[in-house]
Amino acid sequence: MAHLWSGRFAGDPDAELFAFGSSFRFDRRLFADDVRGSLAWAAGLARAGVLSAADAAAIDRGLREILDQASADPAFISDAHGDEDVHAFVERELVARIGDAGRRLHTGRSRNEQVALDLRLYLKRRIPGLQRDVAAVVASLIGLADRAGDALMPSYTHLRRAQPVLVAHFLLSHVASLRRDVDRLNTVLDEIDELPLGSGAIAGTAYPIDVAALATALGFTRIARNSMDVSGDRDFVASFLHAASLGMVHLSRIAEDFILFTSEEFGYFELADSAATGSSLMPQKKNPDPLELVRGKSGRVIGHLAGWLVTMKGLPAGYNKDLQEDKEALFDAEDTWTGCLRATASILHGLRPHAAVTARAASGLLLATDVADYLVAKGLPFRDAHEVVGALVRRLLDEQRSFEDLSLDEWRQHSALFAEDVRQAVTPLASVARKRTPQSTAPEAVAAALDDARRWVSGFGLEA
Ligand code: ARG
Repeated sequence: MAHLWSGRFAGDPDAELFAFGSSFRFDRRLFADDVRGSLAWAAGLARAGVLSAADAAAIDRGLREILDQASADPAFISDAHGDEDVHAFVERELVARIGDAGRRLHTGRSRNEQVALDLRLYLKRRIPGLQRDVAAVVASLIGLADRAGDALMPSYTHLRRAQPVLVAHFLLSHVASLRRDVDRLNTVLDEIDELPLGSGAIAGTAYPIDVAALATALGFTRIARNSMDVSGDRDFVASFLHAASLGMVHLSRIAEDFILFTSEEFGYFELADSAATGSSLMPQKKNPDPLELVRGKSGRVIGHLAGWLVTMKGLPAGYNKDLQEDKEALFDAEDTWTGCLRATASILHGLRPHAAVTARAASGLLLATDVADYLVAKGLPFRDAHEVVGALVRRLLDEQRSFEDLSLDEWRQHSALFAEDVRQAVTPLASVARKRTPQSTAPEAVAAALDDARRWVSGFGLEA
């Protein structure tokens, strides 16, 4: 079979080595983007007077036929012809339909810039779907926050009880990190908003292509700065993999929280039966396998980022075939992230909060900071208040008691500043209600944050 570059060679490539180097198996995903780029390139060649109007029209018709055939029959994009990559596939199909005019399409163009274009077009069309999947997880968190209502729970630092918070506040903490994931994808979209065409293989093209018009036609606002850079640049793949890795880190932390909080030890939430699995041996088990898989798959996506950075780091300027490795990493990261986002949304959707359990855990010695704040309100310097309350906590621990059980006399043994009103001041509800900043767990602040999150989600055409 003739390849895109056969002319220079006296014989055929070794079949196994050819198969080793082919990318069609995975870059067929870029089919629609490749055709779109070629349609624009043909129009650009015609505008520059390089292609006759008749040839340009034939190419246009041929490429559209190929697109139609692929949408009518997805099996059409098959490797039955042993194509090296998606670019070879499209060109062969085009020539089969329109003959010689098809052989003029590649004038002034290289696969190096073509693949750089295709990947950008691919990400431009796929990232909005990922962002929507992230927003769907946010919608599920908001739904869970609604079911939790005004339930309280402990917050933790060092995985030790810290201060009471609303359950909704805890859930909104994960909303905040997920919203950053969407923003980070927007910066990837900005990075890839640059037309690579006109770069040729590495030195630019010898035809007077109006790259500005081409950029507009393909939806780019900027033109690449340097043709040599285009040839070897896959920074944007690393940026995407970084966005995916952090996105997976966030999902993994959500998974970890709910693996813990649905365990017998915590019992704060109940997993839906449909989101758990049993044990083949131990009849009592209700295992959080789907959450564990979300946590586990984060390693794989981070691995793609690390692997890709290593692949890039030693490359000399310009295109090198190593760069073909970008696609499997990118596609698998995308698929894994999408799968985990959907799984997480579905698991969260079925979670039931146990308000009585979380409320019980939100009471007790984790009100110590509120006791200190009480003393501060009565005029004691905070550092002194901290010491007074520290001694009080030590005593309560010794006596296995808590603040609620103290009589006023006992309070006053520790400081004469304590008065009858200490009882109302030192409750979980008073603790959250006393918070004053917009990012705090104060009920009004949480209600406003939930409204804001709901508005954000509705921007994706989703309801929460
Ligand atoms: N399949 C190749 C890739 O993904 C396309 C570019 C090929 N360019 C070349 N000079 N061999 O990188």
